[in-house]
Amino acid sequence: MDQDLAFELTDVTKAYGDPRGHHPTFVALRRVTLRIPVGGLTTIVGPSGSGKSTLLGLLGLLDRPTEGTLRILGQDTSTVSERRRCALRGQHLGFVFQAFHLMAHRTVLDNVMVGGLYRGLSRPERTSEAMRRLEAVGLRNKSTGRVETLSGGERQRVAIARALVGSPEVLLCDEPTGNLDSRNGEAVADLLVRLAGSGITVVMVTHDPSMAGLGDRTITVRDGEVTDHATS
Ligand SMILES: Nc1ncnc2c1ncn2[C@@H]1O[C@H](COP(=O)(O)OP(=O)(O)O)[C@@H](O)[C@H]1O
Ligand SMILES: [Mg+2]
Repeated sequence: MDQDLAFELTDVTKAYGDPRGHHPTFVALRRVTLRIPVGGLTTIVGPSGSGKSTLLGLLGLLDRPTEGTLRILGQDTSTVSERRRCALRGQHLGFVFQAFHLMAHRTVLDNVMVGGLYRGLSRPERTSEAMRRLEAVGLRNKSTGRVETLSGGERQRVAIARALVGSPEVLLCDEPTGNLDSRNGEAVADLLVRLAGSGITVVMVTHDPSMAGLGDRTITVRDGEVTDHATS
Protein backbone atom coordinates (compact mmCIF):
# COMPACT_ATOMS: atom_id res chain seq x y z
CA MET A 1 0.00 0.00 0.00
CA ASP A 2 1.39 3.36 -1.05
CA GLN A 3 0.90 6.05 1.62
CA ASP A 4 1.73 8.83 -0.82
CA LEU A 5 -1.30 8.22 -2.98
CA ALA A 6 -4.43 10.29 -2.47
CA PHE A 7 -6.41 8.02 -4.79
CA GLU A 8 -5.83 4.60 -6.27
CA LEU A 9 -8.45 3.23 -8.65
CA THR A 10 -8.20 -0.27 -10.05
CA ASP A 11 -10.51 -1.43 -12.84
CA VAL A 12 -13.29 0.88 -11.72
CA THR A 13 -16.52 0.64 -13.68
CA LYS A 14 -19.63 2.70 -13.02
CA ALA A 15 -22.94 1.71 -14.59
CA TYR A 16 -26.15 3.67 -14.11
CA GLY A 17 -29.55 2.05 -14.11
CA ASP A 18 -30.67 -1.24 -12.64
CA PRO A 19 -29.27 -4.17 -14.61
CA ARG A 20 -32.18 -6.35 -13.35
CA GLY A 21 -34.85 -3.76 -14.13
CA HIS A 22 -36.45 -2.59 -17.32
CA HIS A 23 -34.12 0.33 -17.80
CA PRO A 24 -31.02 -0.31 -19.84
CA THR A 25 -27.73 0.00 -18.00
CA PHE A 26 -25.53 2.84 -19.09
CA VAL A 27 -21.81 2.39 -18.51
CA ALA A 28 -20.51 5.88 -17.64
CA LEU A 29 -16.99 4.72 -16.68
CA ARG A 30 -15.26 1.61 -17.95
CA ARG A 31 -12.34 -0.15 -16.24
CA VAL A 32 -10.59 2.98 -15.02
CA THR A 33 -7.21 2.40 -13.40
CA LEU A 34 -5.32 5.43 -12.16
CA ARG A 35 -3.34 6.89 -9.29
CA ILE A 36 -3.38 10.43 -7.98
CA PRO A 37 -0.51 11.32 -5.64
CA VAL A 38 -0.86 13.49 -2.55
CA GLY A 39 -0.40 17.22 -3.20
CA GLY A 40 -0.53 19.31 -6.34
CA LEU A 41 -3.25 19.97 -8.88
CA THR A 42 -4.75 17.21 -10.99
CA THR A 43 -7.10 18.29 -13.75
CA ILE A 44 -9.72 15.98 -15.24
CA VAL A 45 -10.66 16.98 -18.78
CA GLY A 46 -12.88 15.62 -21.52
CA PRO A 47 -15.97 16.47 -23.54
CA SER A 48 -19.40 16.93 -22.00
CA GLY A 49 -20.91 13.57 -21.08
CA SER A 50 -17.57 11.75 -21.06
CA GLY A 51 -17.81 10.78 -17.39
CA LYS A 52 -15.86 13.50 -15.56
CA SER A 53 -18.49 14.23 -12.91
CA THR A 54 -19.11 10.52 -12.48
CA LEU A 55 -15.41 10.04 -11.80
CA LEU A 56 -15.30 12.97 -9.36
CA GLY A 57 -18.39 11.61 -7.58
CA LEU A 58 -16.63 8.29 -7.07
CA LEU A 59 -13.46 10.00 -5.80
CA GLY A 60 -15.66 11.98 -3.38
CA LEU A 61 -17.46 8.87 -2.10
CA LEU A 62 -20.73 10.41 -3.26
CA ASP A 63 -21.31 7.27 -5.29
CA ARG A 64 -19.95 3.72 -5.33
CA PRO A 65 -18.22 1.92 -8.19
CA THR A 66 -20.24 -0.89 -9.76
CA GLU A 67 -17.00 -2.86 -10.05
CA GLY A 68 -13.38 -2.36 -9.09
CA THR A 69 -11.65 -0.90 -6.05
CA LEU A 70 -11.03 2.64 -4.92
CA ARG A 71 -8.59 3.57 -2.19
CA ILE A 72 -8.44 6.99 -0.59
CA LEU A 73 -5.26 7.89 1.29
CA GLY A 74 -4.43 4.20 1.41
CA GLN A 75 -7.81 3.07 2.73
CA ASP A 76 -10.07 0.75 0.77
CA THR A 77 -13.52 2.25 0.40
CA SER A 78 -15.29 -0.54 -1.47
CA THR A 79 -15.97 -2.79 1.47
CA VAL A 80 -16.71 -0.24 4.19
CA SER A 81 -20.12 0.82 5.55
CA GLU A 82 -21.98 3.93 4.46
CA ARG A 83 -21.33 5.36 7.92
CA ARG A 84 -17.59 4.92 7.51
CA ARG A 85 -17.71 6.43 4.02
CA CYS A 86 -19.47 9.47 5.50
CA ALA A 87 -16.77 9.77 8.12
CA LEU A 88 -14.00 9.53 5.52
CA ARG A 89 -15.74 12.20 3.45
CA GLY A 90 -16.13 14.54 6.41
CA GLN A 91 -12.57 14.02 7.62
CA HIS A 92 -10.56 14.13 4.42
CA LEU A 93 -12.55 15.66 1.56
CA GLY A 94 -13.79 19.14 0.65
CA PHE A 95 -16.11 19.85 -2.28
CA VAL A 96 -16.51 22.78 -4.65
CA PHE A 97 -19.20 22.77 -7.34
CA GLN A 98 -19.92 24.87 -10.41
CA ALA A 99 -23.12 26.30 -8.90
CA PHE A 100 -21.51 27.42 -5.58
CA HIS A 101 -24.42 26.05 -3.46
CA LEU A 102 -24.38 28.91 -0.98
CA MET A 103 -27.21 30.38 1.14
CA ALA A 104 -27.70 33.67 -0.71
CA HIS A 105 -29.53 35.51 2.09
CA ARG A 106 -27.06 34.59 4.83
CA THR A 107 -23.73 36.22 5.59
CA VAL A 108 -20.45 35.09 4.13
CA LEU A 109 -19.29 33.99 7.59
CA ASP A 110 -22.45 31.90 8.19
CA ASN A 111 -21.88 30.14 4.88
CA VAL A 112 -18.26 29.31 5.59
CA MET A 113 -19.07 28.10 9.11
CA VAL A 114 -21.36 25.44 7.62
CA GLY A 115 -18.14 23.71 6.54
CA GLY A 116 -17.40 22.90 10.18
CA LEU A 117 -20.77 21.37 11.02
CA TYR A 118 -19.86 17.79 10.28
CA ARG A 119 -16.35 17.96 11.61
CA GLY A 120 -17.17 18.07 15.30
CA LEU A 121 -15.99 21.64 15.86
CA SER A 122 -17.52 23.88 18.53
CA ARG A 123 -19.13 27.16 17.46
CA PRO A 124 -16.15 29.35 18.55
CA GLU A 125 -13.80 26.95 16.76
CA ARG A 126 -15.92 27.12 13.64
CA THR A 127 -15.97 30.92 13.76
CA SER A 128 -12.22 31.30 14.08
CA GLU A 129 -11.56 28.59 11.51
CA ALA A 130 -14.01 30.23 9.08
CA MET A 131 -12.36 33.64 9.51
CA ARG A 132 -8.94 32.06 8.94
CA ARG A 133 -10.19 30.47 5.71
CA LEU A 134 -11.81 33.72 4.53
CA GLU A 135 -8.46 35.40 5.06
CA ALA A 136 -6.82 32.73 2.91
CA VAL A 137 -9.18 33.38 0.00
CA GLY A 138 -8.90 37.18 0.41
CA LEU A 139 -12.45 37.80 1.65
CA ARG A 140 -12.04 38.49 5.36
CA ASN A 141 -13.37 42.03 4.86
CA LYS A 142 -16.61 40.62 3.37
CA SER A 143 -17.43 38.28 6.28
CA THR A 144 -20.52 40.20 7.48
CA GLY A 145 -21.89 40.86 3.98
CA ARG A 146 -24.64 38.75 2.50
CA VAL A 147 -23.68 36.33 -0.23
CA GLU A 148 -26.23 37.88 -2.62
CA THR A 149 -24.13 41.07 -2.68
CA LEU A 150 -21.02 39.25 -3.97
CA SER A 151 -19.77 38.71 -7.52
CA GLY A 152 -19.65 35.20 -8.95
CA GLY A 153 -15.92 34.95 -8.44
CA GLU A 154 -16.26 36.02 -4.81
CA ARG A 155 -19.04 33.47 -4.28
CA GLN A 156 -16.85 30.69 -5.54
CA ARG A 157 -14.05 31.82 -3.22
CA VAL A 158 -16.55 31.66 -0.32
CA ALA A 159 -17.43 28.11 -1.40
CA ILE A 160 -13.72 27.25 -1.43
CA ALA A 161 -13.27 28.75 2.05
CA ARG A 162 -16.21 26.63 3.26
CA ALA A 163 -14.67 23.51 1.73
CA LEU A 164 -11.39 24.21 3.53
CA VAL A 165 -12.86 24.44 7.03
CA GLY A 166 -11.63 21.44 8.98
CA SER A 167 -8.45 21.20 6.89
CA PRO A 168 -9.33 18.43 4.43
CA GLU A 169 -6.33 16.87 2.68
CA VAL A 170 -8.24 16.74 -0.60
CA LEU A 171 -10.31 19.36 -2.43
CA LEU A 172 -12.58 18.03 -5.20
CA CYS A 173 -13.83 20.68 -7.64
CA ASP A 174 -16.37 20.06 -10.42
CA GLU A 175 -16.17 22.80 -13.09
CA PRO A 176 -15.44 25.45 -10.41
CA THR A 177 -14.97 28.13 -13.07
CA GLY A 178 -17.88 27.00 -15.27
CA ASN A 179 -20.25 29.79 -14.14
CA LEU A 180 -17.64 32.55 -14.16
CA ASP A 181 -16.39 35.02 -16.76
CA SER A 182 -12.77 34.53 -17.79
CA ARG A 183 -11.31 37.09 -15.36
CA ASN A 184 -13.11 35.67 -12.32
CA GLY A 185 -12.44 32.16 -13.58
CA GLU A 186 -8.72 32.86 -13.68
CA ALA A 187 -8.78 34.27 -10.14
CA VAL A 188 -10.48 31.12 -8.85
CA ALA A 189 -8.08 28.90 -10.81
CA ASP A 190 -5.10 30.84 -9.41
CA LEU A 191 -6.43 30.28 -5.91
CA LEU A 192 -6.73 26.52 -6.52
CA VAL A 193 -3.19 26.43 -7.92
CA ARG A 194 -1.94 28.22 -4.81
CA LEU A 195 -3.79 25.79 -2.51
CA ALA A 196 -2.34 22.86 -4.44
CA GLY A 197 1.11 24.37 -3.98
CA SER A 198 0.55 24.52 -0.24
CA GLY A 199 0.24 20.74 -0.03
CA ILE A 200 -3.50 20.16 -0.46
CA THR A 201 -4.44 17.59 -3.09
CA VAL A 202 -6.65 19.49 -5.52
CA VAL A 203 -8.61 17.62 -8.20
CA MET A 204 -10.38 19.88 -10.69
CA VAL A 205 -12.79 18.80 -13.41
CA THR A 206 -12.88 21.24 -16.31
CA HIS A 207 -13.87 21.25 -19.94
CA ASP A 208 -11.84 24.42 -20.50
CA PRO A 209 -8.56 23.40 -22.17
CA SER A 210 -6.81 26.56 -20.91
CA MET A 211 -7.51 25.47 -17.31
CA ALA A 212 -6.34 21.93 -17.96
CA GLY A 213 -2.80 23.13 -18.52
CA LEU A 214 -2.60 24.55 -14.99
CA GLY A 215 -2.43 21.07 -13.53
CA ASP A 216 0.67 19.22 -12.42
CA ARG A 217 -1.00 16.30 -14.17
CA THR A 218 -4.01 15.83 -16.40
CA ILE A 219 -6.42 12.93 -16.70
CA THR A 220 -8.32 12.81 -19.97
CA VAL A 221 -11.69 11.03 -20.05
CA ARG A 222 -13.40 10.09 -23.29
CA ASP A 223 -16.57 8.01 -23.59
CA GLY A 224 -16.10 6.69 -20.08
CA GLU A 225 -12.49 5.65 -20.52
CA VAL A 226 -9.32 7.29 -19.26
CA THR A 227 -7.42 7.79 -22.48
CA ASP A 228 -4.50 9.78 -21.17
CA HIS A 229 -2.83 10.38 -17.82
CA ALA A 230 -0.04 12.88 -18.33
CA THR A 231 2.28 14.58 -15.88
CA SER A 232 3.49 18.04 -16.89
N1 LIG B 1 -27.61 9.31 -12.49
C1 LIG B 1 -27.44 8.99 -13.78
N2 LIG B 1 -28.23 8.06 -14.38
C2 LIG B 1 -28.04 7.72 -15.68
N3 LIG B 1 -27.08 8.22 -16.47
C3 LIG B 1 -26.26 9.14 -15.93
C4 LIG B 1 -26.39 9.57 -14.56
N4 LIG B 1 -25.42 10.49 -14.31
C5 LIG B 1 -24.74 10.63 -15.47
N5 LIG B 1 -25.23 9.82 -16.42
C6 LIG B 1 -24.71 9.67 -17.80
O1 LIG B 1 -23.36 9.28 -17.72
C7 LIG B 1 -22.59 9.97 -18.71
C8 LIG B 1 -21.47 10.73 -18.05
O2 LIG B 1 -22.04 11.79 -17.28
P1 LIG B 1 -21.12 12.81 -16.46
O3 LIG B 1 -20.18 12.04 -15.61
O4 LIG B 1 -22.03 13.77 -15.79
O5 LIG B 1 -20.30 13.52 -17.65
P2 LIG B 1 -19.47 14.88 -17.66
O6 LIG B 1 -19.33 15.38 -16.26
O7 LIG B 1 -18.16 14.52 -18.30
O8 LIG B 1 -20.24 15.83 -18.52
C9 LIG B 1 -23.56 10.85 -19.48
O9 LIG B 1 -23.95 10.19 -20.65
C10 LIG B 1 -24.72 10.99 -18.54
O10 LIG B 1 -25.92 11.18 -19.25
MG1 LIG C 1 -19.92 17.18 -15.39
